[in-house]
Amino acid sequence: MRRDATQPARQEFLSHVSDPFELFLEWMQEAEAAEPNDPNAVALATATSDGTPSVRMVLMKKVEGQGFCFYTNSESQKGQELAENPQASMCFHWKSLRRQVRISGVVSELPPEDADAYFHSRSRGSQRAALASRQSRPLKSRGLLEVMVHEYELAYPDQIPRPPHWKGYSLKAQRIEFWQDRRDRMHDRVVFQHTAEGWSKTLLYP
Ligand SMILES: Cc1cc2nc3c(=O)[nH]c(=O)nc-3n(C[C@H](O)[C@H](O)[C@H](O)COP(=O)(O)O)c2cc1C
Repeated sequence: MRRDATQPARQEFLSHVSDPFELFLEWMQEAEAAEPNDPNAVALATATSDGTPSVRMVLMKKVEGQGFCFYTNSESQKGQELAENPQASMCFHWKSLRRQVRISGVVSELPPEDADAYFHSRSRGSQRAALASRQSRPLKSRGLLEVMVHEYELAYPDQIPRPPHWKGYSLKAQRIEFWQDRRDRMHDRVVFQHTAEGWSKTLLYP
């Protein structure tokens, strides 16, 4: 049986909301309660300077000053694409809630202190793996990666240094669209566009 995820009391919710960040944080909180794992997982689309697109999942770790932040290896495919073309998009899909949020804008690097703080908040295992990984480049064998990780463990018994190419990025939103499933394909869609005067809001046909 198919469930209409929109509660009756919330039917006019999307038409009344005026702050896209308030709504995003509310939906994220609801996703944290509803999704079995990684409610902050998001598809991140980047493109080369000639417009060839690519997409992959990342974890969106925080929302800060209109920016949706994630961490990755700047030498990876996505890192190289962002260096040549900072335009990017994100798409959250919360299956259990039947919701989608699309965000697009320009990506910039977070300050190194921010990357340091997040890097050192992760488990030692994750830190070692980040240090050893030449993300997105060919790997001769799984064994080679495991040897490298072991060597880093011996080399850094105390604090593991953040590799300089492991960075934080912020996608500063220029457009945020919310989509909520409704019965009979009468879905709600509302898009917020950043303008000189603030956020404009438009309802869209489903
Ligand atoms: C749920 C999920 C979360 C992920 N989170 C991250 C992340 O936060 N940072 C990251 O670099 N890769 C993350 N990955 C791996 C990426 O999807 C991707 O394989 C990797 O970053 C290399 O992408 P690229 O070759 O396009 O640069 C995640 C994968 C999944 C499935």
